[in-house]
Amino acid sequence: MNITDFDVYKDLLKEKSGLVLTPDKLYLIESRLNPVTKKWGYENLDAMTNVLRAVPPKELVNDIVEAMTTNETSFFRDNKPFEIFKNTVLPYYMKKAGGNKNLKIWCAAASSGQEPYSIAMILKEESSKLPGWNFSITATDISHEILEQAKEGTYTQFEVQRGLPITLLMKYFTQNDDKWSINDDIKHMIDFKYFNLLDPMSGLGQFDIIFCRNVLIYFDQPTKKDVMERMSKQMADDGFFFLGGAETVLGITDAYKAVPNCRGLYAKAQSQHIIAA
Ligand SMILES: C[S@@+](CC[C@H](N)C(=O)[O-])C[C@H]1O[C@@H](n2cnc3c(N)ncnc32)[C@H](O)[C@@H]1O
Repeated sequence: MNITDFDVYKDLLKEKSGLVLTPDKLYLIESRLNPVTKKWGYENLDAMTNVLRAVPPKELVNDIVEAMTTNETSFFRDNKPFEIFKNTVLPYYMKKAGGNKNLKIWCAAASSGQEPYSIAMILKEESSKLPGWNFSITATDISHEILEQAKEGTYTQFEVQRGLPITLLMKYFTQNDDKWSINDDIKHMIDFKYFNLLDPMSGLGQFDIIFCRNVLIYFDQPTKKDVMERMSKQMADDGFFFLGGAETVLGITDAYKAVPNCRGLYAKAQSQHIIAA
């Protein structure tokens, strides 16, 4: 693929999803887009690139964006954020509760569901300490295909072996041949929906806790800033914001401050409730 063709994909991905494609990812374009070329019946990648230069069908653009997203995830990925959620964030809400026992969580860029299901299992495990509480988990992603997998909640042996404690596997999953399906009581805790982080967020409502992990690394600095700042507007004043291990707000936005001793956890800059683990 020559550099002019590469630019067609680079510009399209940046505009439609925020993903930044660097020239070292040239090999990715060819390997990931070959199935799209076949699905749409184009003779080769050059033929599809020519269609993209004109006015391409919306569905083709969606297929290309989906093919180029990286959906890598696992249950309790990096573990520490989930420990912080259980041992620091949840106790904060239990202590402050007053009359309000509603907690709204948004798992943005949820991929195939392991992250929101991990959160839901923690809430289920902690439920005896949380009588009368209502939880809602909204899990979103830009990829329709990955959302279907997430909603299905069925995982291979390899996937359940990555990060999921055996006790939770036995308690919350049912084995069907060589696959494991998450039980309905966990599944029903989550509302999966399509959402592009570049789109206006106000329609999603307000959240207490936002998980936005391992997606902003694929965006450029202005896009990261824009997404983080718009997310802060969707977050309660004493809300919490989780980022991935390789992500930070430092040097990007002043909308948040780091919560001491809780790597990857942030609070709104103006909040008074900063907690120490
Ligand atoms: C690497 S996965 C991270 C999954 C999970 N948050 C985790 O940390 O394990 C990144 C996800 O972000 C999604 N994504 C990429 N661009 C997006 C966008 N503009 N809006 C919403 N989701 C996006 C991809 O489809 C993919 O499922």
